[in-house]
Amino acid sequence: MSRILSKIHLSKDVFQMKLQAPNIARERKAGQFVILQADSDYTERIPLTIADADAEEGSITIIFQVVGKTTLNLALMNEGDVIENVLGPLGQPTHIENFGTVVCVGGGIGVAPLHPIAQAMKDAGNRVITIVGARTKELLILEDEMRAIADEFIVCTDDGSYGRKDLVTKPLQEICESEKPDVAVVIGPPVMMKFCAETTRPYGIKTYASLNTIMVDGTGMCGGCRVTVGNETKFVCVDGPEFDAHLVDFDTMMLRLTSFKTIEQKSNHECHL
Ligand code: FES
Repeated sequence: MSRILSKIHLSKDVFQMKLQAPNIARERKAGQFVILQADSDYTERIPLTIADADAEEGSITIIFQVVGKTTLNLALMNEGDVIENVLGPLGQPTHIENFGTVVCVGGGIGVAPLHPIAQAMKDAGNRVITIVGARTKELLILEDEMRAIADEFIVCTDDGSYGRKDLVTKPLQEICESEKPDVAVVIGPPVMMKFCAETTRPYGIKTYASLNTIMVDGTGMCGGCRVTVGNETKFVCVDGPEFDAHLVDFDTMMLRLTSFKTIEQKSNHECHL
């Protein structure tokens, strides 16, 4: 059980919650996640990256976007309420070392899991270039936090309402040309990660993508999170969530993510009635 210590409305449909979870706060490393279930009788389990943690306070921070019934139910909870199950920390931590120059690319809600990784890369002595993108200015999250970490910071919006009117792949390509970064970390919608991987591939820049698949148990038992990486089947929950983006079969992953679309639409329709 985990009590909600605070709740902030970050942007349209995006919420940040601080949860009481002393054991997870003590153990977690950048790149790891939790699976939570707000109410064990009525809601599904959802994986969420640990965006931040405070071991002294015994708290972790999660950031989520309302995309369906489960996340809507979570968004309706408030400070003082109790989330029934919080399991973690799960997954492999990000491999952090002083690579030299690291370019971190985050799209939409993907900026939340990118934040602790960018911070850890900076703490390890890397020069950190950050590119964040959103459809529009109102959907941009954690700008100040990411700006504070980065040696160079670029914002893109699809509609040009803030920063550059570009997809994140455009400045990424420019940086590949000019700065020749040693490593890229990309987190966001699968199609964004796919095209970021295609952008860095010709330059031979090692690129990691953090995958957010459907998950059930989070312990490698159910197979719900399986992806193909370098022609091998991997489980995102135990082998990931980060993989070599140049080896990930993003097309199959995107296809699998649509498996429950009809059920999700029905559920969304019911919760908006
Ligand atoms: Fe079940 Fe990964 S969530 S195997």
